[in-house]
Amino acid sequence: MTSVGPVATGEYPSVDEERVTMDPERAHDDAGPTNDAGSVPGADGSAPLRLWGGRFAGGPAEALARLSVSVQFDWRLAPYDLLASRSHARVLHRAGLLDAGELAAMLKALDDLSDAVTQGRFRPTVEDEDVHTALERGLLENLGALGGKLRAGRSRNDQVATDLRLYLRDHARQVAGRLTELSSALVTLAEQHVDTPAPGMTHLQHAQPISFGHQLLAHVQAFVRDVDRLRDWDRRASVSALGAGALAGSSLPLDPAGVAAELGFDRAFANSLDAVSDRDFAAEFLFAAALTGVHLSRLGEEIVLWTTREFGWVELDDAFATGSSIMPQKKNPDIAELARGKSGRLIGALTALLTTLKGLPLAYDRDLQEDKEPVFDAVDTLLVVLPAMTGMVATMRVRRERLERAAPDGFALATDVAEYLVRNGVVFREAHEAVGQLVAWCVAHDAELDDVSAEDLAVINPLLTADVRSVLSVRGALEARSAPGGTAPDRVRDQIRDLAPVLDRDRAWAGN
Ligand code: ARG
Repeated sequence: MTSVGPVATGEYPSVDEERVTMDPERAHDDAGPTNDAGSVPGADGSAPLRLWGGRFAGGPAEALARLSVSVQFDWRLAPYDLLASRSHARVLHRAGLLDAGELAAMLKALDDLSDAVTQGRFRPTVEDEDVHTALERGLLENLGALGGKLRAGRSRNDQVATDLRLYLRDHARQVAGRLTELSSALVTLAEQHVDTPAPGMTHLQHAQPISFGHQLLAHVQAFVRDVDRLRDWDRRASVSALGAGALAGSSLPLDPAGVAAELGFDRAFANSLDAVSDRDFAAEFLFAAALTGVHLSRLGEEIVLWTTREFGWVELDDAFATGSSIMPQKKNPDIAELARGKSGRLIGALTALLTTLKGLPLAYDRDLQEDKEPVFDAVDTLLVVLPAMTGMVATMRVRRERLERAAPDGFALATDVAEYLVRNGVVFREAHEAVGQLVAWCVAHDAELDDVSAEDLAVINPLLTADVRSVLSVRGALEARSAPGGTAPDRVRDQIRDLAPVLDRDRAWAGN
């Protein structure tokens, strides 16, 4: 797809905060947003550009302008808006609405504006209602009247829908890239711990011994699905809305399919009303982001537990842990906690957008302007959480000996004894009962399963023959779970082998 390259937060000039927040004092100094004389003068005292002033006797009330302005957050769409504008200029030329000279001048001005935006020489001001208004002002400043031709056949409604799709398709790839890096870090750690036995838990209680590598890879499987979800999402998001106009399409001979192809989309819209009102792509992206947040939160919670004194399975590198301002001894897993905490905000973004969309009549409604902040916040959140999690995972020290010692704790080999009896012809229900009695005996006598003598076994339950002691080995328990997808070290090695091409494919899709 067409990419404007890595566009991370802060790479593009931000809006002049003072003006965007419409600081009242400053507004007075500049004779800023007012509703007198029907205009909201710009910094130079001239009337500000509005894309809709003609039929209005006066300018907007300050309260309206304050509510309506979105440039402080939609400015990050500027590179995508400019990209779409180039395609629109070319389609106007093909339609005979711009001659060759005009097209060349228009494309040159758009390139210059693009450079000025990137370098921060062209900045939006609060008088620019939104990114589209700001960029049209920039074009008019450069081209004069010719700049006004670009809006033919185009509305901010089809423009903003297209810009947001371009932005998200670009950023979905960035998120996928960072997710793949996290998966790679987990796989690298898993490779070192294929043979490290660890307590496997259900209900956070010791259940059965597992390979620690197997546990790490369980998180990788979730992150791989997350990338898969983004790739799948991308197929549906790959639709250009340009040419839909405000809602009904255009009477001008535009070429939506050609524009779509130029912008790297798979296709153009099928229904102009849907094109300008559909935000499924944003909602679906936010679901994918929220679910990734949930996965990060679950890994974060495990790392929080693993780093406690009670578990002591893992020690974080100093560079990826924090201290306490009062307790000199503390080393805190703040990254893991923030990953856990920020999942709330990702779920919130999804909820906010779905709530906004619910009940909107077709086609465009101004409510739709509310689509952008949740989307941007979700992208920013993931792009800041993922690298921190990756760094933490890549540098954390696993305390192999502690894991190995804890692996059989809590009678974790009890299932192995029961299954051994079943292999020898005992009905599982009876085997379960016998081993339950064995565990109760151990609890009462403060003993481990392998402390129990052959005589005691026979007394506890006659099914417990002396040979059951042969299965009381953690290594044996791991090796025994050798069916596909199980925790046997050989199966874990298979899993690592199978993940390699998947991660390569995901890396390639993400563009790194
Ligand atoms: N800033 C607007 C948005 O994000 C752009 C579209 C405005 N369209 C309109 N008809 N007022 O939705």
